[in-house]
Amino acid sequence: MKKILVIYYSQSGQLKQILDNICLPFEKNQEISITWHKIKPVNDFPFPWKADEFFNAMPESVKGTPFEIDSTDLNTDENYDLIIFGYAVWYLSPSIPTTSFLKTEIAKKLFANKKVITVIACRNMWTNAHKTVINLISESGGKTIGNVALSDKTNNLVSVITIYQWMVKGIKEKYMNIFPMPGVSDADINKSIVFGKSILKMMLGEISEQNLQQDILKNNKESFSLSLALIEKTAIRIFNIWANFILKKGDYNSTTRLTRVRIFKYYLFIVIFVVLPFAQLFFSSILLLNPVLKRKLIKRFASPDFNYSQT
Ligand SMILES: Cc1cc2nc3c(=O)[nH]c(=O)nc-3n(C[C@H](O)[C@H](O)[C@H](O)COP(=O)(O)O)c2cc1C
Repeated sequence: MKKILVIYYSQSGQLKQILDNICLPFEKNQEISITWHKIKPVNDFPFPWKADEFFNAMPESVKGTPFEIDSTDLNTDENYDLIIFGYAVWYLSPSIPTTSFLKTEIAKKLFANKKVITVIACRNMWTNAHKTVINLISESGGKTIGNVALSDKTNNLVSVITIYQWMVKGIKEKYMNIFPMPGVSDADINKSIVFGKSILKMMLGEISEQNLQQDILKNNKESFSLSLALIEKTAIRIFNIWANFILKKGDYNSTTRLTRVRIFKYYLFIVIFVVLPFAQLFFSSILLLNPVLKRKLIKRFASPDFNYSQT
């Protein structure tokens, strides 16, 4: 009997839907047992979010500040063959519950010497967050052998509007009836069973662990945009500066920092709608003019553990 542990944190249930589909092939297999664990922050984050709360989560997301997590129902003595770890991205970083969980002593014990497959469901910028997650997994002695990243494939500016509306209303619907549906498309959610099939093939020895990511990517060709991945590198540095600026006025629960949080909100909207389109054009042109760099980056981001030495 092979044992799989699925750990995740999802507010809307979108990521859980994806994980349910990924796990369908295992449920039909008598040789595999699945244990589910939803990460439980002691004080959970709001959903739907109020505007101030949404932007107030930036500093702690970016800094990876751990919040208290209740992991009492996790059995660290169980010898799992595989951990599937599902997470969402907040401010180009793993969501606060994700980072908080990975930093617990229980998670460190659980991940030691384990093979891990990560599953990301986000808007469209996940490469920086993923680097943090694989580092935390590796610090615990775990090894990331596969990564499934699903994002919203609509235009970048449109998805900013639709996802924000979804987050503050709590309902996944077409904003004003004219915008497309927010988040990962239903087609991609339903299709995610194929990733479970790839994982099953690996568990049954039909494909090697080394070939798993290639098999996943065959069914996930547009898992990221290179120009957005390059923008992330600059954006995360700027978020860090803003995080330090806001944190000088207090921690997460402090109302004294709210003015700075609101200034950050306006800054972010201006950057996204005014600067980002030009930045995307700039990076797309660089990639067009430099196919060697493009190939190198594709290879790097296609690797589940971002193994830079392979590039
Ligand atoms: C506070 C906050 C910040 C977010 N920042 C990002 C981001 O930087 N990049 C991204 O691709 N998605 C971002 N998202 C979208 C989430 O990754 C995710 O798609 C959405 O929250 C739904 O996840 P759920 O399964 O937890 O409901 C953000 C969401 C929230 C709530």
